[in-house]
Parts: sequence; structure tokens; C-alpha cells
Amino acid sequence: MSDFAHRLIAWHREHGRHDLPWQGGVDPYRIWLSEIMLQQTQVDTVIPYYRRFLARFPDLAALAAAPVEEVMALWSGLGYYARARNLHRAAQVIVAEHGGRFPRGAAQIATLPGVGRSTAAAIAAFAFGERAAILDGNVKRVLCRAFGVDGFPGSKPVEDALWALADSLLPQVEVGIYIQAQMDLGATLCTRGKPACERCPLAADCVALRTGRAAELPTPRPKKTVPRRSVSLAVVVLGDTVLLERRPPAGIWGGLLTLPEMPAEAATDAAGASRWAQDALGIACEAVEELAPMKHAFTHFLLEIRPLRLQAGGTAAAAREDGRLWQSLAGLDAAALPTPVRRILQGLTSAARAGAGIAG
Ligand code: ADE
Repeated sequence: MSDFAHRLIAWHREHGRHDLPWQGGVDPYRIWLSEIMLQQTQVDTVIPYYRRFLARFPDLAALAAAPVEEVMALWSGLGYYARARNLHRAAQVIVAEHGGRFPRGAAQIATLPGVGRSTAAAIAAFAFGERAAILDGNVKRVLCRAFGVDGFPGSKPVEDALWALADSLLPQVEVGIYIQAQMDLGATLCTRGKPACERCPLAADCVALRTGRAAELPTPRPKKTVPRRSVSLAVVVLGDTVLLERRPPAGIWGGLLTLPEMPAEAATDAAGASRWAQDALGIACEAVEELAPMKHAFTHFLLEIRPLRLQAGGTAAAAREDGRLWQSLAGLDAAALPTPVRRILQGLTSAARAGAGIAG
């Protein structure tokens, strides 16, 4: 396809997205932030997070100087929290090792924590006009279809071939527009489920369309079963507060506030749960209630969560172990909670409101 880039650029002029909050500027900090937020997350979801984040951390120095807890709180709900920890770490690296000036050149940018080859290229192209190819999930899909590339694009040989192809397609000028056009085409027309081939600027030469293979390409990841893990989480309520604890910085939900985890054998009945609350937390428990279970999909496993509501008696002041705190229900919105924990606690506060409504 000789004029691949040219067709995409022309298409973008008319049909691409031009009014996203991170477009129109060349501040590498803002572009970097948007690209990290947009990894694995849709534009519509990102926009309000992006605005809030920038309002609080308008530049790199502000981010580097911030406590990591505050960064995590602003990220809470976006998922893939390693992105936020890496972002914060990278800001500190830029201050410490680059004199606070965002590094130039895709190769330099790719050395920052949390920035891979494709993201580095996108930042370099958008902020500095560098001629560097990207290869994110959307671009892989477009290339596999347009050129009829077989094989799972996440496998090393296919990925290498796609990088070479992406490099060979780069235009000499307007690289930033070209890259944005690739992203937009993948996100809006050449979608995974129902590609809108009738509106695609590549349709006339698309191998997948010509051979009726748009639904088969890109080749899916070879199947493997996802392991499951179950946890019982204690929702210990005392008046209008709930007991939370901070996770260690590394691992799942690192640095976020979560509900204490109960051992499986303690969570089988009310008596066991009460005994555990007394022994592990020093809390006298007045009532135990099973809440609706939920599932949460991580990249590598499925987490099955069984929440148990434990009503703490009296003025239990215990549970004051390191990292535990009584969080007011009214202040939950601003707390750094993982999404499933937030959902459990939202159920709790809406039930409390409904109860108050009936009583009042
Ligand atoms: N996904 C990743 N980067 C993006 C961008 N700049 N615009 C739209 N979607 C994206």
C-alpha cells in the first residue's frame, strides 16, 4: 500500500479527533501524562481524570514534589496503578537526573519508568515532531488487517515484523498527525468488534477486507485459563466510619487503601468472623452480614471477592495497627481506593442513605 500514511493523514483532517484536552499543545509533561492515562483506558474515561490531575499537578515539578499517596488518590478508579507509581517515580527521575527538563528523543524517553517504546515514540512525535513509529494495540490491529499479517501480534516474531512494517510506513512530514490518525482510526473505525470498513480510507487495499478476514485478524492470543483467587474482605463499620488499611507499596493495589482481608476459615460463619474480629483487630462485633459477592478481573487472574459486613460494638478504638485507620463514610470519595473496594463501600453508603430516608 504505497500511500498508507498519506491516506490516514487526509482522513484525519476530516474525521479524526481534534479537540481532546491534550491536543494542540507541545508541553511534553501534558502529552506524557495523557499517553500514560490512555494506556489501556478509553478517551472518555480519561478526560475527567486528566483535568483533575493537571489542576492539582500543573507541571512536572509539582508532580515530583507531591506525596505518592496524593498521586494515587487522583488515580483511584483509573486502574493499572503501577502507571501512577511509575509516573510519580519518572517525574522524580527527571528532576534528579535531567535537571527537571523532560528528556528529548524517543530513546531517552523510553528509559523513564513506565514508558515503553511505543509510548515514548508517541510522546516524541507529539511534543518534538520526531519521526518515530508507534505500535500500540490499535495500530497492531490496523496493520494486521490492512496487510493481512497472521499470528498473535503479542508474540515476539509477529511483533518484530509489525515494528519493521510500522517503521517502513512512517511519512517524512506530519508525523504527529499521522500517529494521531493511526490511533483514531483504530479506536473509531477499525475497532475490534465491528469495523466500519465502508468508511475506512484503507478499504480499497485492505487484505482482511478483500479476503473476508476482518473478523479473524488480528489472530487472538492463544487460549490459557485464567487462575482464580478468592478473598473475604471485612467491612468493619463503627458509627459512620469504616476500617481501612493501606496496602504495601508493591503488588496488587500497592499503596491504596483497602478493606482488611479475613482468612477463609474465619469467614465461613458469623461466629468465626466475630472471633477473628476480636483476635485480629481487638474489636467486639455485634452483627455479621454477608454482602453481595463480586468478581474483579486482573490481567493475570480473576479475583472473587466475598465482602462481610461486621458491625463493631461500642466505641471500639482498637485496630490501631500500623496502616489501619477509621475512615469516615462521608470522606470516601476522596480516598485512594481500588475500584471493587469503592463499589462495595458505595453499596454501604447508599444503603445507609436509604435507611436514613426511611427513618426520617
Ligand atoms: N490512545 C493512546 N494515545 C492516544 C491519543 N493520543 N489519542 C487517542 N487515543 C490514544
